[in-house]
Amino acid sequence: MYKIVADTLFTGKKVVHLPTCQSTNDTAAEFIQSGRAIAGMVIIADGQTKGRGQRGNSWQATPGLNLTLSLIWSPSFIGAADSFMLNMAVSLAIAETVAHFLPDAAVTVKWPNDIYANGQKICGTLIENTLQGAQIRYSIVGIGLNVNQTDFNGIFATSLKLVSGQQQSLPEVFDFLMCRLEKRYLQLQTQGSTPIRQAYLNRLYRRGQPATYTDLRTDVPVIFEGIIEDIDTAGRLLMRTQNSIEIFDLKQIQFNA
Ligand code: BTN
Repeated sequence: MYKIVADTLFTGKKVVHLPTCQSTNDTAAEFIQSGRAIAGMVIIADGQTKGRGQRGNSWQATPGLNLTLSLIWSPSFIGAADSFMLNMAVSLAIAETVAHFLPDAAVTVKWPNDIYANGQKICGTLIENTLQGAQIRYSIVGIGLNVNQTDFNGIFATSLKLVSGQQQSLPEVFDFLMCRLEKRYLQLQTQGSTPIRQAYLNRLYRRGQPATYTDLRTDVPVIFEGIIEDIDTAGRLLMRTQNSIEIFDLKQIQFNA
């Protein structure tokens, strides 16, 4: 069903397609540990029994209707401290893929790397890096893209089909996604982070718009109004508040409705 991707140099040239597995990120980690990983290989499963999300959450997706995959790269040109560059490149490539299939939708990246279509989550990513010294040795890029699922059991999420009203071909979306991912990866390698960072900022959800957030840095969460201004080199969110610019790391802020 999923063919080797034709229009890339190395991404998607080896595709391991499983009917089911626990988590494609876990299977990818096993390939790395056993020395069978090749940069650019993809583990894709029709369904996962224990799909993992960010912050220890689970990832639920109806088998056979979505893309649940993990791509293995070896971005040894990226230092451990700069790993957010890869998050930006990946988020951007996924957003561009979603925008290609949903030309009329507003497709944005919600910091740090959720993809939104018309203000609802359509894709989540779980990137897990292994280091060699101060460099990234392997990166497992786990992607859960909602394609043809239309019922999310009350979860605030959407899919390509829900937005477009049309059934999409999973192999076609897969192929396009692999090409975009490799394009942004190679751009990062050859041009550095500046163009990627600018394109990421241009797609950033709520950037420049006043909105309500919850500050989770203190024991008692504080609701406040702020405006997302920028992202620093460590990938932290710079937020303008009434009196200052506040800096938020992962898990330190919640976006309110
Ligand atoms: C999130 O938004 O919380 C991240 C979700 C990441 C889900 C994908 S599905 C394929 C890969 N395997 C996993 O177990 N998780 C990622």
